[in-house]
Amino acid sequence: LTEGAPGQARPSAVRLSLRQPQGETALLFGAGLPGAPELAAALAGRTVFALSTPGLRRLHGDLIARLLAPAGRLVELEAPDGEAAKSLEIAGPLWRRMLAAGGKRDSLLVAIGGGSLTDLGGFLAGTFLRGIDLVQAPTTLLAMVDAAIGGKTAIDLPEGKNTVGVFHHPALVLADTDFLSTLPAGELRSGLVEAIKMAAMLGPELLAKIEADLPALLAGDARSLLPVVAGAAAAKCWVVERDPNEKGLRKVLNFGHTLGHAIEGVLGFSGLRHGEAVAYGMLFAMQLQAGRPEADPEFLARLHRLLARLELPPLPLGPGDAAALEAFMARDKKAGEAGLTWVLPTRLGEHQLRQGLPPAEVAAALSRFLADPWAAARV
Ligand SMILES: NC(=O)c1ccc[n+]([C@@H]2O[C@H](COP(=O)([O-])OP(=O)(O)OC[C@H]3O[C@@H](n4cnc5c(N)ncnc54)[C@H](O)[C@@H]3O)[C@@H](O)[C@H]2O)c1
Ligand SMILES: [Zn+2]
Repeated sequence: LTEGAPGQARPSAVRLSLRQPQGETALLFGAGLPGAPELAAALAGRTVFALSTPGLRRLHGDLIARLLAPAGRLVELEAPDGEAAKSLEIAGPLWRRMLAAGGKRDSLLVAIGGGSLTDLGGFLAGTFLRGIDLVQAPTTLLAMVDAAIGGKTAIDLPEGKNTVGVFHHPALVLADTDFLSTLPAGELRSGLVEAIKMAAMLGPELLAKIEADLPALLAGDARSLLPVVAGAAAAKCWVVERDPNEKGLRKVLNFGHTLGHAIEGVLGFSGLRHGEAVAYGMLFAMQLQAGRPEADPEFLARLHRLLARLELPPLPLGPGDAAALEAFMARDKKAGEAGLTWVLPTRLGEHQLRQGLPPAEVAAALSRFLADPWAAARV
C-alpha cells in the first residue's frame, strides 16, 4: 500500500495494483478522488460512456460530474438502480446507443454505481466492439471490496442470476469513499460481511481491525471504513492475481456462498440482502466444521461472536425449507461433476476445500441449522 502524494488525490488515498491476464489494473481508494492523475490519464481525449443510475445521479450528481470532468467527450448512459440493471432488456438498447453515439474501439466506459451497475458496465465494456477499456467506480461497500475487482461481469436471465457474462478487467478501479456517506445501514452491513469473509480467510490483521472498529464501521464512519475497504480489496486482489480464472484458490471467496446463494434463491431474492444471506452461509459452513480435528474451536467461536455483533435480521426460513435449499444447491452452477465444493474455515487465515461431503451429513446439519442458526454450543 502506498500513500498518495498531497495535491493529487488527498494524502489518505490508498493505491493498489493487480496484475491480470489482460494487463494491469490500478486501484485507488480514498475520499475526494476527483483530480486523481490516474483518472485524468484514463479519460482525457477520449469518448467516455458514463454509465450510472437515476438514484446515484440524484444523490451524488456533483461528485459524479467532478469525477468525469477530464473526459474528452462525454456520453451519459443510464440503467435502473439495483439488480434490474443486469438484464438483456437493458443491455441491448445501451449497446445500440453506444454505437449511435459514435463509440469506437478506443472509447472508454466508466461504470459508477453498486455491484449491479459495475456488473452491467463490465459486461457492456467487455462485449461492445469485442471489448473497450473500462473504469469501475464502485459506490457501495460491496462493490468496492468485491464486485468491481477481478474482471467477472454478468447479466441475469429469467432462468438465473449471473448466467451470461465475460471476464473483462478494468484498467482502473476508483473507489471514492465519499459515496458511502449515503449508503443505507443495511447495505453497509451487507458489504461488511464480504470484508469479514476475506479477513477470516486471508487477513488476520484485517479481522482484528474490523472487530475493534465494528460500531464505527456499521455507522458509516469514513475514517474507519477506508482501511477496511482497502484491506479487503487488497485481499481480493491477492487471490485474483494468483487464480485469475477461478480454477482453484479463488474458490476461497465462495466461503458462505454455497448456502448463501441457496437462501437467496429460495427467498426469491427478497427479504435478505446478499451479504446477510452469506453471513448465514458462513455460520452453516462453520457448523459443518465444528468438532473436526482440523478446525480451531477458538477461531470458530471468534468468528461466530463477530457475526453475532452484526445483529442480522432473522433468517426467515425453518427446518421445512431444507429440501428446497438442498435442491437449489444441487443446481448450483459452481457444482462440478463431483458435486459441491464447500469452503470450510479451519483456523485464522486458513481454510480447506471439501468435495463430496455425504448428502446425508449435509442434510442432517442443515436441519439442525435451520432449527437454530445461531446455536453457539455446536461451534
Ligand atoms: N462481479 C463480481 O465479482 C461480483 C462480486 C460480488 C457481487 N456481484 C454482484 O453485485 C451485485 C450486488 O451489488 P450491491 O450490493 O452493490 O447492490 P446494488 O448495486 O444493487 O446496489 C444496491 C442499491 O444501492 C444503491 N446505491 C448504490 N450506491 C449507493 C450510494 N452510494 N448511496 C446510496 N445508495 C446507493 C443502488 O442504486 C441500489 O439501489 C449483485 O448483482 C452481485 O451479483 C458481482
Ligand atoms: Zn458475495
